[in-house]
Amino acid sequence: MAVVVAGSINVDLIQSVDALPRPGETVLALQSERLPGGKGANQAVAAARAGAQTRMIGAVGEDESGVWMTEQLSAAGVDTLAVVAVEGAATGTAYITVDTSGENQIIVASGANAALAPAMVDTVADADIRVAQLEVPVEAVAAFFAASPGKQAVRVLNAAPAVLEAKRLFASTDVLIVNQHELAVYLGQHEERATPQAALAARTLISRDDQLVIVTLGASGAVAVRAGSAVHVPAFPVVPRDAVGAGDCFVGALCAMLDRAGDARPTDEALLIFANAAAALCTQKPGAVPAMPLRSDVEAFIAAHPNEGRPI
Ligand code: RIB
Repeated sequence: MAVVVAGSINVDLIQSVDALPRPGETVLALQSERLPGGKGANQAVAAARAGAQTRMIGAVGEDESGVWMTEQLSAAGVDTLAVVAVEGAATGTAYITVDTSGENQIIVASGANAALAPAMVDTVADADIRVAQLEVPVEAVAAFFAASPGKQAVRVLNAAPAVLEAKRLFASTDVLIVNQHELAVYLGQHEERATPQAALAARTLISRDDQLVIVTLGASGAVAVRAGSAVHVPAFPVVPRDAVGAGDCFVGALCAMLDRAGDARPTDEALLIFANAAAALCTQKPGAVPAMPLRSDVEAFIAAHPNEGRPI
């Protein structure tokens, strides 16, 4: 069993502030940190810590940051044989600001991530779960999902950040995961609504009966929508310290659970409870990669909250 992640690898430069700056405003940082991140790397570490044998496919620069990020992934138990150093490129960098309520703003300079090419993702014969996001070229993700497998893998697309061109990937996706911002973009809506009822509109993004679309709603939990059913699982009530990487933690933990279950597919409720719990724990620590919880911690957290985070 294996989870293979194709995606971005970034160095996160994080500034903690009292309040996020408004346009034209200058604010002073309370603290500055350099931590490992990138949606792909975060999801790979989350899956590995949640117990899955995990491989990362991605691109870094031929620089100190690239070496450091590859070491960070290895140290977290992720196989990095398919992480390539791109000549002349800089490692991706994310400029992140986090306020005291845990809210954040992120700007990503793609660097080497933009060089991830279809030929570089053709190494997935033994994947049970293939997971991708959209901080790398859509062409690379298309090739990753199309790569002729020895067996049929479950293809998980976290369509983040929202890239309209990526809608062409939805038909070849088995599990699509978006948040309310991304859902609004893909539905062509101007207003985003973080309600379980509004999330049901995600059904229009899928075209096969066996597809699952999951909408994450932050403090309102997550909704799993299929052609003929839907389930809402509320979030665990935690006070977030830093939400950076929480969405990636949700995706990685969910993939690890899918992988663990093999052919005995877990219920949508069970998937969301485990992923919500992992994401809740992730918000309790600063940064993305360093905040990904171990499977044992997630299970202990769920057991300690028997009356919360369950479908109503
Ligand atoms: O989802 C959080 C991630 O987005 C950060 O780690 C940052 O690198 C950006 O990719």
